[in-house]
Order: sequence, then C-alpha cells, then structure tokens
Amino acid sequence: MRVGVLTGGGDCPGLNAVIRAIVRRGVKEFGYEFIGFRDGWRGPLEGDTVPLDVQAVRGILPRGGTILGSSRTNPLADSAASGGHSGVARIKDNLDSLGVDALIAIGGEDTLGVATRLHEDGVSIVGVPKTIDNDLSATDYTFGFDTAVNIAMEAIDRLHTTAESHHRALIVEVMGRYAGWIALHAGMAGGANVILIPEKRFEIEKVCAYVEHRFETRYAPIVVVAEGARPADGDASAANQQLDAFGHVRFGGVGQMLADEIEKRTGKEARCAVLGHIQRGGTPTAFDRVLATRFGLQAIGAVHDAAFGVMVALRGTDIVRVPLAAATSELKVVPADRYDESEVLFG
Ligand code: F6P
Repeated sequence: MRVGVLTGGGDCPGLNAVIRAIVRRGVKEFGYEFIGFRDGWRGPLEGDTVPLDVQAVRGILPRGGTILGSSRTNPLADSAASGGHSGVARIKDNLDSLGVDALIAIGGEDTLGVATRLHEDGVSIVGVPKTIDNDLSATDYTFGFDTAVNIAMEAIDRLHTTAESHHRALIVEVMGRYAGWIALHAGMAGGANVILIPEKRFEIEKVCAYVEHRFETRYAPIVVVAEGARPADGDASAANQQLDAFGHVRFGGVGQMLADEIEKRTGKEARCAVLGHIQRGGTPTAFDRVLATRFGLQAIGAVHDAAFGVMVALRGTDIVRVPLAAATSELKVVPADRYDESEVLFG
C-alpha cells in the first residue's frame, strides 16, 4: 500500500507531529510506503512529491511549520484546470500515475472541503483536522490552538507590565477570522480587561467605558481583539479586500482602529500590538504534540481499516471517526453564553 500525505491551508504547530505518527505507525505496524506531496493541494495537482520515510520524520516532533510545505491552492477553482482537465481530474491522474492507493489530507475547513469533494469522486481519502482557530465543529479541539493561546497569553502578560509603567491602554490583536476562541481563551488566561470577538459586534462607547474604569483603579487596560471582530456600526476589520483562492478576505486593522478611537475618546494614550503569525510559529505545546500524534496514529489506522471519507476527531478524550462532510458543514463559533460568562471580568 502506498499512502500520500499533504498539509494544506495556514500552517500550525503540530503538523509535523501528525506526519511523524502517520509514517512511524504506517511503516512499523502495517509495512506501508509513503509519499509526501509538497505545498498542500498544489502537490497532487502538479505531481510535486517528496520522499517520506522513517528517516525523513526523525527529529520533527517539536518542530513548528510543516516539512511538506503548505499553500492555499484550491483545486476546485477554475484556475486549477489545465489542458481541458479540471483540478479534480488532474489530481486523480497524478495519484494513479504515482501509484498512490490512499491519501491523508491534514488541513482546515478549506482543505477538508476539497478532500470531501475528492472522496465523492472516488478517491480513498482520510482527513485530519488542523487550525489554530479551533473552529471546526466536528472536533472538540484542533491541535495548534493550545499553542496559539499560550503564545498570546504570554504576550498579554508582557504587555501588562509595560502598559502599567506608561499608563497606556494596550490593544492586542489576535487571529480568528470568524471565531473568537483564541481571543476568548488568551484574554481570559491573560486577565484582559475587554475581549472582543467576531461573534458579537462591539460598541466602542462600552469599550471606552471599560478602559476608563480600569485607569480609575490605577491599572492599565489590555483590550484583546480578534482580527475578525467588528464594531456595531461599520465593518472596520477587513483592511484588505484581496481574496485568497478560497474566497477569504485578509483581515487586519481592527486593533489599530480601536487604539485610535480609544485615544480620541478617552484622551489616554493607546497603542496596538498585532500578534499575527507569531501565534502560528514555533514549537507546539505538550497538549498539541499529544493530540497531533494521536490524530496521526488514528488516521493511518483508518486507512488500514479502509475507512475512507472520514476525518479523525477529538470527542472528550477519545479519538473518533466522523464523516468528512461533517467536518466542514458548520463553523464552530463561540456560543453566546461562553462569551457572556467572561463579561463579568471586564473593566
Ligand atoms: O485559519 C488560520 C489563520 O491563522 C486565521 O486565524 C487567519 O485569519 C489566517 O489563517 C491567516 O492566513 P494567512 O497566513 O494566509 O494570512
């Protein structure tokens, strides 16, 4: 059996741990051969491969990023067609000519959406969920999230001390396009004075009231805002209307907008720190290494059982198999009551 592996979409800490677990169990327990595809769906689309054996995965457990590379290439987009062949047809031809019997796709909503489509077209495929945003509904947690939250929490801890020295408000912009999980967890763990998430539009007057109250108690306020959060009136979060291959806008700008407004309305100095890709870089936490490893072990187990068209998922403490289509059917956003319970800590 020859198994292809790819990592697609935004990278995230723990991807290498998944690849390592797949290869180690696949070789040792099942005697499989592996082939890595470079840069997400671009690899199978263009037949761009990299050797993948036990030697290739030695030492990668603690490494961030992905040894296979990643991209947001969308084989379902019109631009993926070539010579009268659709992107899907090109992938199927390349898998056939490379002798790939099964494919493991490690990715988020977009990558797994393509995997679902390929499965419907007869490709033997298993999915592994990944995203720092933790917004896939079929799994309780995705690896990468815990690392991103810890990085953001540490940044908040550091910003507290400098904000207090200078009596400034500090606005921390974290990732999270449509779901505010990173903002909520990092903000709660870091003792933020206000947390703003995409799921609930914010009122700038209310944010300023929390900021002023914090200054009155002789502490400097920290406002944690997800990149996709929007004010009640207007849509200041999408700084750039350029779309990626899956049709997503590139977010950014809401943190600076908030800093400007807070400074203007309260008369206090306000600065913005955008954490950006720092949240996705570097070594995964122990939680993410273990989750990623368990996902990898179970994904190759699913291949061995010929359980195709499924994604591995965490339910409680168990790794289960769910239909691939369920993975992308609904985005897991922060429920209103989870956000509301944190509001008592604001101000
Ligand atoms: O989906 C993960 C994520 O990190 C989002 O939080 C963020 O909006 C996006 O990817 C950024 O993507 P890129 O690295 O392509 O700019």
